[in-house]
Amino acid sequence: MAGRFISFEGGEGSGKSTQARLLADRLRSAGQGVVLTREPGGTEGAEAVRALLVTGDPDRWTPWAEACLVNAARADHVARVIRPALERGEWVICDRFVDSTRAYQGAGKGIADADLCALHAHVTGNLWPDLTIVMTIDSDAGLHRARARNDGEGRFEAHKDSFHSRIAVFFAGLAANEPQRCRAFDGRLPIADLADQIWSAVQA
Ligand code: TMP
Repeated sequence: MAGRFISFEGGEGSGKSTQARLLADRLRSAGQGVVLTREPGGTEGAEAVRALLVTGDPDRWTPWAEACLVNAARADHVARVIRPALERGEWVICDRFVDSTRAYQGAGKGIADADLCALHAHVTGNLWPDLTIVMTIDSDAGLHRARARNDGEGRFEAHKDSFHSRIAVFFAGLAANEPQRCRAFDGRLPIADLADQIWSAVQA
């Protein structure tokens, strides 16, 4: 079977990383070759860029500097990891991708969606996921979960609550606005129930 590209998206503490891992496990058990990866990150260079983005003062970068950094990381990741895996016929499960840029640097920080999509087209050769799983959760509940993790990557979590509310609104509307590619799932459901629902969506 040809490789498929699935991204997981959602605000802070939405449970997407857990679900990305569970889906990768199920696909491997079904005999598929799977690359489980994340953004920003996934290559040595992109992980170094990640450290610049997720640590330090919330005002460390201007919105456009941030948009360029996430896209620099993505260009490297797509060229070195994602496209080669798809060309080998493997499945790629990516924890965050272009919709996080549209949510955080777009809805959150005010850059026009058309500008971000144009930049994305340039740096990736216009690569979009075949399927995007959007985990929705109220931003207060998600932030509470994420801040409790205290994992040393708290720069975005330290942004104002109003920033996170705009991101939650973007993700809540994404599946309705782009139904061909995106499916929404309720991040408050028990982990195992969500994993079953996502598995059904992937099989469909
Ligand atoms: P997380 O996926 O572990 O939550 O951390 C990654 C952080 O990076 C998260 O706060 C969202 C942020 N981010 C952006 O702001 N823009 C992007 O394009 C991506 C991929 C992530």
